[in-house]
Amino acid sequence: MDIITTFTYEDLSRIAAKHVMDKIRQNPKLVIGLATGSTPTGMYQFLVEEYQNNKVDFNQITTFNLDEYVGIDKQNPNSYFSFMKNKLFKHINVRPEQTFIPDGTKPSLEKECLHYEQLLGKFGPVDIQILGLGENGHIGFNEPGTSFKSRTHIVELTPSTRNANARFFQNDLDVPTHAITMGIQSIMEAKEILLLVSGENKKKALHQLLYGEISESFPATILQNHPCVKIIADNEVLHNN
Ligand code: GLP
Repeated sequence: MDIITTFTYEDLSRIAAKHVMDKIRQNPKLVIGLATGSTPTGMYQFLVEEYQNNKVDFNQITTFNLDEYVGIDKQNPNSYFSFMKNKLFKHINVRPEQTFIPDGTKPSLEKECLHYEQLLGKFGPVDIQILGLGENGHIGFNEPGTSFKSRTHIVELTPSTRNANARFFQNDLDVPTHAITMGIQSIMEAKEILLLVSGENKKKALHQLLYGEISESFPATILQNHPCVKIIADNEVLHNN
């Protein structure tokens, strides 16, 4: 694994954005796996700024988001659909048909999972997958115990993940109990993984990811088996141990 440490979150975000932009310049039809959560927001901000300065063109890219809450419609400000629209899509030149996000309001969620996998098969593989890291080692919404062979599926969120995400909701009870997520196998099929890790609360998780035994009880450890992982982490995560 290739690890870059930065002193600030701003540097982390700038380096991540630059890496993605370089990839788009090399391949304008890049397929990008996108993540939500607070960690990648700085990177999205830089991508928007660079687009506004005519430094990057998103006209031909395709994007796949990792996950979406179940039962939260697109218009809900807490949906990952709204997140992506507000942080990135509405500011750049992508059309809706270039961007894929699972739909957690479909009457048959099983069918939606299969459909998402078909889309990944048709437009993929993902060239570069952006990933954040859950404190309990989850990637996407693949909670501890998820099979390494999993593909897009429905998950019940753990209390720790619901707590961690409660800050975005007005009321703790509004935090969804379930989500659709790309599976670990689907994530591992990306040609490259760009993992962004920021903040004191991720220190233990990053340490476990790097040095822990590869185990389904800590999903992110599977990344040790991926041939091309780049980690960008703020200094405070890696040092001060
Ligand atoms: C959520 C998302 C993950 C994300 C994680 C960490 O659970 N489903 O994809 O990596 O949060 O989020 P944050 O970056 O806000 O710490």
